Amino acid sequence: MKKTLIITGGAGFIGSHVVRLFVNKYPNYHIINLDALTYAGNLENLKDIEDAANYTFVKADITDPEGIKTVFEQYKPDGVIHLAAESHVDRSITDPNAFIKTNVMGTANLLNTVKELWKGDFEGKRFYHVSTDEVYGSLGAEGFFLETTPYDPQSPYSASKAASDHFVRAYGNTYGLPFVLTNCSNNYGPNHFPEKLIPLFINNIKNNKPLPVYGDGKYTRDWLYVIDHARAIDIVFHKGKNGETYNIGGFNEWQNIELVKLLIKEMDKQLGRPEGTSEKLITYIKDRPGHDRRYAIDATKIKNELGWEPSVTFEQGLSQTIQWYMDNEEWLSEVTSGNYQKYYEKQYAS
Ligand code: NAD
Ligand code: DAU
Repeated sequence: MKKTLIITGGAGFIGSHVVRLFVNKYPNYHIINLDALTYAGNLENLKDIEDAANYTFVKADITDPEGIKTVFEQYKPDGVIHLAAESHVDRSITDPNAFIKTNVMGTANLLNTVKELWKGDFEGKRFYHVSTDEVYGSLGAEGFFLETTPYDPQSPYSASKAASDHFVRAYGNTYGLPFVLTNCSNNYGPNHFPEKLIPLFINNIKNNKPLPVYGDGKYTRDWLYVIDHARAIDIVFHKGKNGETYNIGGFNEWQNIELVKLLIKEMDKQLGRPEGTSEKLITYIKDRPGHDRRYAIDATKIKNELGWEPSVTFEQGLSQTIQWYMDNEEWLSEVTSGNYQKYYEKQYAS
């Protein structure tokens, strides 16, 4: 079946994997990658598919209502998969307004735009909102986030994502907008911007730079390979029930410090260094303000109802990720030059 889909944030980390999957898997779909190309957006991520007949890139900002209306009226999408966002918690602590603007206002603009474009004729239409497990807040030592867990966001980032989730559901309830929403745990994999833990530490181990571990290092995250997230988005977009929420995660919890030690072990092996050499790089630094202690997703619903589960183990995913960063030095040096260096100096100034 022919379809036109707008994927927002398609030049970013997760978005680029979603765009690639859809462009390759659905030759009958016209995939429009709508992205403002902020510091996190990089068209190098999509070099391999940029000339595909069913792919179009449009540079546009979701916070610009007129610009967005023009793009949507031109392409008349049947569906939207919305990933564009400011995504880094530390940046939300230093500049919350950017997160309110993009994540809340930007999402509201998209909702208003499709409401006007589809004019109540929702046959074959779908708005897919990609969200995060951080909206549920922080867990103690026990338990998991379920789809029914009450929202309790703790950072400006998670508050902005929670607000956007509420707007999506409100437009579903009030205007009948057909939507699906997913809350996913921490992703890792190729093309991950090296401000986030795993790619930052891979880069720093490689370059013999300090590994800045926040607080006591005993914070826990639930890691999922990005390609498995993209597979889940494909399945939910096509098979998810209207108005439903699905949690996505790999039942793969790691304390930060244990993960850092695993990264060191794998990287030292890759770099031909004696085991444990890079442990001396571990540097405990002041904690992230309001740092959530533990995230853990219960992904039973998506498994039971839609048949999705991760396709790779953490060991396989991590080893493919390390290999990708070793093989893509140019990508890494491009994104770590310029403005990013300035951000890095400011973020980690003691
Ligand atoms: P990212 O920061 O790597 O990419 C974000 C993309 O959005 C970039 O290409 C950027 O240019 C684009 N963008 C930002 N502001 C924009 C604007 N105003 N208009 C148009 N485009 C804009 O983010 P990511 O890690 O790939 O996350 C993608 C989505 O998935 C986000 O909504 C995030 O909240 C969600 N999510 C991320 C994770 C994770 O672990 N990274 C986990 C769960 C959910
Ligand atoms: O849970 C999903 C979320 O995961 C997504 O919604 C976010 O977009 C994504 O950025 C990620 O948020 P986190 O804050 O969990 O990811 P980050 O990589 O920034 O940090 C992971 C953990 O590592 C966290 O406990 C903070 C810690 N950390 C991070 C950095 C960058 C450090 O100890 N040192 C660091 O330098």
